[in-house]
Formats: sequence, C-alpha cells, structure tokens
Amino acid sequence: MEFDFNTYVKKLVQKEEIDQYSQELDHIKGKFSRGLNELCWYDMNRYVDNQELKKMITLAKELRNISDVILIIGIGGSSMGSQAMIQALNPYFKKSKPEIIFVGTDLSSEYLIDSQKYLMEKDVSINVISKSGNTMEVLTVFELFQSWMYKKYSDEEVKRRIVVTTSSYDGKLAYYATKNGYENLHIPNVISGRYSILTAATLFPMALANLDIVSFLKGAKEGRMYLNQAGIYAMLRRIFFEQGKRVEGFAIYEPKLSKFVEWTKQVFAESEGKDKKGILPMKLIYTRDLHSLGQFIQEGNPIIFETVISIDRTRTFQVDKYKETLSNINHTVEKSVCQAHLEGNCPTLFIKIDGLDEHSFGELAMFFMMSAAMSSYLFHVNPFDQPGVTKYKEMIGQNLRNL
Ligand code: PA5
Repeated sequence: MEFDFNTYVKKLVQKEEIDQYSQELDHIKGKFSRGLNELCWYDMNRYVDNQELKKMITLAKELRNISDVILIIGIGGSSMGSQAMIQALNPYFKKSKPEIIFVGTDLSSEYLIDSQKYLMEKDVSINVISKSGNTMEVLTVFELFQSWMYKKYSDEEVKRRIVVTTSSYDGKLAYYATKNGYENLHIPNVISGRYSILTAATLFPMALANLDIVSFLKGAKEGRMYLNQAGIYAMLRRIFFEQGKRVEGFAIYEPKLSKFVEWTKQVFAESEGKDKKGILPMKLIYTRDLHSLGQFIQEGNPIIFETVISIDRTRTFQVDKYKETLSNINHTVEKSVCQAHLEGNCPTLFIKIDGLDEHSFGELAMFFMMSAAMSSYLFHVNPFDQPGVTKYKEMIGQNLRNL
C-alpha cells in the first residue's frame, strides 16, 4: 500500500495543527500493543483459529457443490464486509455457479417475492449471519426462507443446506441451530459487527464465493504495519473537522469498490458518529459523480474533504488516441481531480492498493479499521458501541409488540 497525505493537503494544514494532536496520537497508538479486549480484531492470533478456518473452507466447498444459489442473510456489519469483498474480487459479469444473493438488508416484500420466484427451480443453500442472533430484519427474512426451505426439501436436506453464523448462545439464531441441527460458525463476542470482517461473518461468505480467505487474512495481518499511516490519516481527518470540514467523500475510480465504500462508510459512521461529533462519510463514484457532485465539491459549501482509494494495477488496454493505457488515463484523471479540488479548498488524502486481490483488500480493511478506531479515540468517543443503532432496534421491538 502507498499513501500520499501531503501533495493534495499541504497548503491547508499547518505544523501547529499537527503538533496539537501528536502526543495524543502517540498515546492512542500505544493502545494497539496492549492486547486490549476491544482491539482484539487487531491482535489476530487471538481469534483467527486454523481449525475454524479449515472448517469454513470444507463446509463452503460442500455447499458450493450442492447449490445453484446461496443466500446470505444479514444486515449492517454482519453483511457489509462480505458484500464488499464479493463485489470487489469478482469479475463484473460473472455468471458462474453458485450465484450469491444477499437478502435481509431490507424489508421489501417486492424483493422477497421476486427472489422466491427466481429461486423456484434452483437448488438453494443459506448462510444466515447475526452476531446478536436477534436482529429483526434478519430473523424475519430468515424465518420466511426457512419455512420455504422446509417446503422445498426434506428435513435432512434442509439441515445440510443451512449454516448459522452467530456469537450469542441465547439468541434466536442459536436456538434454531440447536433445534434443527444446523452447522454453527462463531463470531467472537467482543468484536462489534463492523469490525467483524476478519471473522466467519465475512470469511465464510467469501469462501462460499470461492475467494481466498487465507490470503485475505494474511493481507490483514500484514496491514498492521501501516499503524503509523492509519494514525496520520485519523489525525488529518480530525484537523479537517476542526477546520469546518464535515463530510468525507470516499472517491473511487473502479465501480466494483462501491460496496467496499459502503463498508468504509459504516465503519466510520458507526464508530465515531456519537455525542454530536463525527464526520459524515459519502460515496463518490468517479468519474460519474464528477459530472454532478463534482460541481458542489469544486465551488459549493467547502465542508468536504476527499479520500481517494486508488488501484495501482488493473487489467487494461491501449487507447490509441492518447498512446496510453486506459488505466494510466484513469490515474491521470485521479491526479487532475485532486489538483482541481485542492484549488477549490477541498484537500484529498490519497490511498493506493496494489491490485484487486484478496491480499490487498485484507491490508486495506485493516488500515481502515485501525484508522476508524483511532479517529474515534481522537473524538473521545467509544468506537465499538452503537447506542444509536440499539435505540432504533428497541423502538421497532416496542412498536411491533403493539401491532
Ligand atoms: O456494526 C454493527 O455492530 C451493526 O451494524 C450490526 O452489525 C448490525 O446492527 C447487525 O447486528 P447483528 O449482527 O447482531 O444482527
């Protein structure tokens, strides 16, 4: 990975602003070597177990062999990581078997009716994921598909085709797993949803999509070497916030990173958006959005800074008109936009990964988790709780009981 936190920033950040946070940042970085429970996703040896990894790979192979379609049911942190990885690490128009379909991310009966119609003649398996085992959207959709499966298959066959991923022993999902004999994969209790990308919550769906989870984990482990850069990134975000920048535009020039940006948005928004603080994350798919939001960024209310996620090596071809590859043209556009936006008082933090592969995304995921945690500590909020999300979950529960 490479970082440029200088070229498209320097005019806008003063040395005194950096000095103000240096000491606090050193203290925060120190937390990562102290083996704190809340940071156990960083200390990977504490939860990525070889036995569990082997089990996931074997189980995934079995399900792939018997399925035309695999449904992944989950929401929020328990789903966003796998959606991100499966989109980023597959070709744009992949039609191979099994097809992976995500459900449980909304309550659209239109979508569910159409998906059941689509699945009618197909062999289907399910991985349902919920750390708490009780999230309303996930349970509602799972219960619907569970009954559908029992109508379609024998009890024995359903048992073979459903895998539950949860951390809670008293949640409803654990109850179904025990009662019906489903395979059960574990999310460690201390890891909150958006930091669970290195657990079975994301690893098993990745294995179902035949992605290399060993290389992904290796990348994440090696990504820890970027702790310093993650700290600088967190500090610059904090400085921009003090300067009145309230929105961070995550800009991509490769549309298949779209879900990855959704995951990044979730990690930052849910970690630091507390106590009336935090920076609102926004997705920018370039060059498309340069023709709409680009106007606002260049000349509108100067509340935005950008973070570009660039891919160094992509497949490409020569464009005769420019005597250059399309990929190099794309990179030239990236740089030109950063220059233009800097002139419009919008600084850019530039992050480059090697390629569209598991190892690179493992590094990138670790980088963003470290920086989101550090950024939250710099805002003096707890990165690992989500009282706002819990609030709405409770309200739904109350109102549904009153129906
Ligand atoms: O990051 C989080 O903690 C949340 O987004 C959760 O992942 C989300 O609310 C789903 O929760 P659960 O996995 O318990 O179903």
